[in-house]
Amino acid sequence: MLILGIETSCDETAAAVVQDGSILLSNAIASSMDLHKAFGGVVPEIAARSHIEVINPIIKQALDEAKTGWDDIDAIAVTQGPGLGGSLLIGVLTARTYAITKHKPLYAVDHVMAHPFATFINETNLAGYSLPASQPKFPMLALIVSGGHTQLVLFRSPFDYSVVGKTQDDAVGEAFDKVAKMLGLPYPGGPSISNSATQGDPHRYVLPDSRMPSPYDFSFSGLKTAVLRVLQAESGQGHDFPSFRLPEALSKSQVHDMAASFQFTAVQTLVSKTLRALIEFQPASIVVAGGVSANQELRSELENQLPLQPIYTDLSLCTDNGAMIAVLGGYMHKAGMEQADPYMLDIRPNLPM
Ligand code: KG4
Ligand code: ZN
Repeated sequence: MLILGIETSCDETAAAVVQDGSILLSNAIASSMDLHKAFGGVVPEIAARSHIEVINPIIKQALDEAKTGWDDIDAIAVTQGPGLGGSLLIGVLTARTYAITKHKPLYAVDHVMAHPFATFINETNLAGYSLPASQPKFPMLALIVSGGHTQLVLFRSPFDYSVVGKTQDDAVGEAFDKVAKMLGLPYPGGPSISNSATQGDPHRYVLPDSRMPSPYDFSFSGLKTAVLRVLQAESGQGHDFPSFRLPEALSKSQVHDMAASFQFTAVQTLVSKTLRALIEFQPASIVVAGGVSANQELRSELENQLPLQPIYTDLSLCTDNGAMIAVLGGYMHKAGMEQADPYMLDIRPNLPM
């Protein structure tokens, strides 16, 4: 069974071919990230325009790299939401067009739900991938941490799940991106904070840990504000000092130490809530997915503190990709789930999981 997965929810235009839900035959990705860097974040109009330019070449590349053609593709899976409206529209309209013209079944996939399914890929002939040795087992606890989402989800099967906890405000990736901006570190903030943190002291600044009514819910906006207040005080300024002027007022060691202290606090929050959920729900496996799962500090703390070895995947499958969409679409195809109408399928930018 060969599934073509198409993903365009944010700034990555991605298409991949996955065989039998576990073998990665191709993984084509074009990112408009460089175009957004000057603005310190993703600009929706620029992202949508970039998707239009590259979506067809990316799909062709995915088929070529997989050494396959339309005849052999069993179904198309596409991200329906959540995400940026203009970006989602390009992926969905393209998938609809191919579904009609190539006579393929079409499946609408939830982007957030798809993230953990990237860890189901455990085989490839493509060079340079470091993949899990085996597929996660159900019940599977998933920590989904990205620029738009932070949640703990218990999957009893691919389509039977409960959201155990989620962020009540900012996503953790968003907090990395915003704190990086305050520190004058380049976008995206996740990798630049973790780079800077390697030279910093994680205990120099003591930042608050969020207290939520539910032990599994998250909050990162208080942490972000605490970082701002400490940085204003460190640069000898008051609460009205604008955050965009902080980078020029901070020393290198202040930047490194705050990057390390922020990362330490964010990681400890994620790990402690995951550990608690693990003890309560006793899953057979635990997977960590989404862009922030690329964070090495998070990986090593999870390994240190959890009684069960967490499963994560290659860095290129942690951030947005078409392969995770193809894996979940493949489960839908195999389970005989309802196909999307290629003449009607609409985007769902605010799709809740
Ligand atoms: O999953 P993803 O590619 O897109 C969304 O669905 O949001 O995640 C992007 C997020 C960004 O906020 C980025 O800063 C964060 O993942 N990220 C990281 C790292 N690499 C990417 N955060 C922490 N450490 C990293 N190494
Ligand atoms: Zn994502």
